[in-house]
Amino acid sequence: MTPAYRDAYSRINALVIVGEGLADSHFRLLAGLLPEDRDDLMRLAAMEGHHARDFSGCGRQLGIRPDLPLARRLFAPLHRLFREAVRSGDRVSALVIQCLIVESFAVAAYRCYQPVADPFAAPIIQAVLTDEAEHLEYGGRWLAAWFPEVAAPIAACCERALPIVLAMLQSVRDDLTAIGIDPTDVVGEFVACFQAAIETVGFEPRQARGLVARLAGRAAQAA
Ligand SMILES: [Fe+2]
Ligand SMILES: [Fe+2]
Repeated sequence: MTPAYRDAYSRINALVIVGEGLADSHFRLLAGLLPEDRDDLMRLAAMEGHHARDFSGCGRQLGIRPDLPLARRLFAPLHRLFREAVRSGDRVSALVIQCLIVESFAVAAYRCYQPVADPFAAPIIQAVLTDEAEHLEYGGRWLAAWFPEVAAPIAACCERALPIVLAMLQSVRDDLTAIGIDPTDVVGEFVACFQAAIETVGFEPRQARGLVARLAGRAAQAA
């Protein structure tokens, strides 16, 4: 491991730890918004807490200290948007942000990290990917039950939240490259995963493509 690798890893590992920690807190907040699903959501929250601890262990194993303050700054806009949704009782936006967007982001990042992960991290990533698929499914199922009523609010939420995710990806592209991940692959996986999730909810493939096309277009411009 070169010093450049260790340096980049300290930021990517932190982003993962903070993202998982926020997912834990988001599912707890969702449990408050959706009391009928409280037990399920608390269970999903506990899974995220577990992921955060496992990924902390990955950094420790390599003797690398994660740059947590930077990661918290990078996640702040998305976390703010989520808290705003919770405060106003907007269950649809809260579910879209955590269960569709954050989870798609996680799946994309882990899928791309998997082939270059060290032997300690590889089995952890495999297990985490299975869990994140369940979280995506939960959100997809809930929103699908309210479709098409929720179509316009979902689109409005995506319009606000997707550019934030893209900006996050943009700000870590050099670090991703340094640890062997092609940032363009992460964007590609994110778009594919998110589009599939949106189709599960009930959007036609054409509409789903339209929702993410703007995102993909911006990503292409930024690349
Ligand atoms: Fe997770
Ligand atoms: Fe998750």
